[in-house]
Amino acid sequence: MRTNHHGNGAVIRALLAENIHPDAEAALTRFGPVMIERLDGAPDAAALTARLDGVQLLGIRSRTRLPKDVFANAPDLLAVGCFCIGVNQVDLAAAQAAGVPVFNAPFANTRSVAELTLAAAVMLMRGIPRKLAAIRRGEWLKSAAGSHEVRGKKLGIVGYGNIGSQLSVLASGHGMHVYYYDIETKLAHGNARAMASLDELLALADILTLHVPSTPQTRNMIRAAQLARMKPGAFLINHARGDLVDIPALTAALESGHIGGAAIDVFPTEPASKDERFESPLLAFDNVLLTPHIGGSTEEAQAAIGEDAAVKLARYVFEGSTGKAVNFPQLEPGPLAPGRARLLSIHVNAPGYLSHLNEAISGAGLNVAAQHLQTQGQTGYAAADLEGGLPDGFLARVQAVPGTLRARLLNGG
Ligand code: NAI
Repeated sequence: MRTNHHGNGAVIRALLAENIHPDAEAALTRFGPVMIERLDGAPDAAALTARLDGVQLLGIRSRTRLPKDVFANAPDLLAVGCFCIGVNQVDLAAAQAAGVPVFNAPFANTRSVAELTLAAAVMLMRGIPRKLAAIRRGEWLKSAAGSHEVRGKKLGIVGYGNIGSQLSVLASGHGMHVYYYDIETKLAHGNARAMASLDELLALADILTLHVPSTPQTRNMIRAAQLARMKPGAFLINHARGDLVDIPALTAALESGHIGGAAIDVFPTEPASKDERFESPLLAFDNVLLTPHIGGSTEEAQAAIGEDAAVKLARYVFEGSTGKAVNFPQLEPGPLAPGRARLLSIHVNAPGYLSHLNEAISGAGLNVAAQHLQTQGQTGYAAADLEGGLPDGFLARVQAVPGTLRARLLNGG
C-alpha cells in the first residue's frame, strides 16, 4: 500500500525527461511548490527506475517507454504526464492498476494542423507544387491558367472535430464556402453547412480535406469509388492519418488527371527515423505537396503541449483532479476550500467500498462537506472534503479499509 500526505509546504518532486518544453515548468508550479529535475534523452526502464525514488511526477515524451515494471518499482510515483499526443509508449493498464493516472496533451497542436491545411489549400489552388517542381528544373511557368484564389471555392471537411472546426473558421475568413461531414451532429461555425453523407460532400467539394481519426470505419475511406465521385480537377488533402486514403487509387486518379493535385502529410508506412528513406508512388507527381508528418509540429504546439500536460499533472497533485486522464476514472473535485482537508482514495472497484470508507471518516468524527466517486474498470477513485480536526492515524485507518490501493490527504490550509 502507498501513502502520500502533502500540502502545507511539503514539496513535490517532478522528473522531466526528453527535453520537455520550458513552459512546462511554470505550469507545473502554478498551484503549489514543485521541485523540478531534468533528465536528458529517453531513459530505459532501469535508468528511469533508479531516478524515480522519491519522485511523485514523471514527464516523458514519445520515446520513453513505461512498461509494467516501472510502475511496480516506483512506489512514490503519483502521476505520469506524456508531453505529446500518443500514449502507446505507456502500459496504461499497469499504470491504472498501480493507481497512477496518465495524462497527455491531445489537442495542443490543433491550430498548427489547421493552419498548414489552409496553407495547403491555397498552394494547391494556385498550382504551386507543380510550379515549384518546374522552377527547380529551370522552367518558368508564369501562366495564370489553372491558378485560382481560394475565395469563393468550396472546401469539404471530413470530420468536424477540433481540427476540422478550427479549419472551418480559418477557411471562412479566407472567403471559402465550407461544407462538412461528420458521423456526429456538430454545431456549424459561421456559415459552414453540414452534409448528410460523405458522397454529397465528395460531389460538391473543390478541395476535400480529411480530419478524422483512424478507425475501422475510416480506414481506406477514400478509395477509387470516392475519388471518382469527386469533381474533375478537385484536390485532396490528407493531414490526418496515413491509412485513410488508398494510395494506389489516388495514384491512378492523379495519373488520369481526374484529381487535380493533393497535399499529403501522413502515409501508410513512414520512416521510423531520419536515417530511413521515404518511399511513395506519390513522389512521381509534380502536383502533389508532400510533407513528412509535420502537420502538428511547431514550436507553438510544443509550448502548448508543455502547458497542457503540466497543468493536468499539477491539478492532480494539488486538487486531486483526474480530468482528461487517459487511463483513470475522471474526477474534478475543484479547488479545496480553506479549513478543509481532502481525502483521495484510489481503490479496487468493488461493492461496499464507499460505505466502509465513510465508516472510517465518521468514526474519526469528521464531517463530509463534499464527496465524489468515479469508477473505471477495476479501479475506483473517491474524493471527500472533510471538516473537523484530523485525528492522529486517520490516514492509516483509511489505508486499512479493505480494497484501498492508495490514499493521500490534501490540506486546504
Ligand atoms: P477529433 O477527435 O477532435 O475530431 C475527429 C472528428 O472526426 C470527430 O468529430 C468525429 O466525430 C469525426 N469522425 C469520426 N469518424 C468519422 C467518420 N467515419 N466519418 C466522419 N467523421 C468521423 O480529432 P482532431 O484532433 O480534430 O484530429 C483529427 C485527425 O488529425 C486525427 O486523425 C489526428 O490523428 C490527426 N492529427 C494529425 C496530425 C499531424 O501531424 N498530421 C497532428 C494532430 C492530429
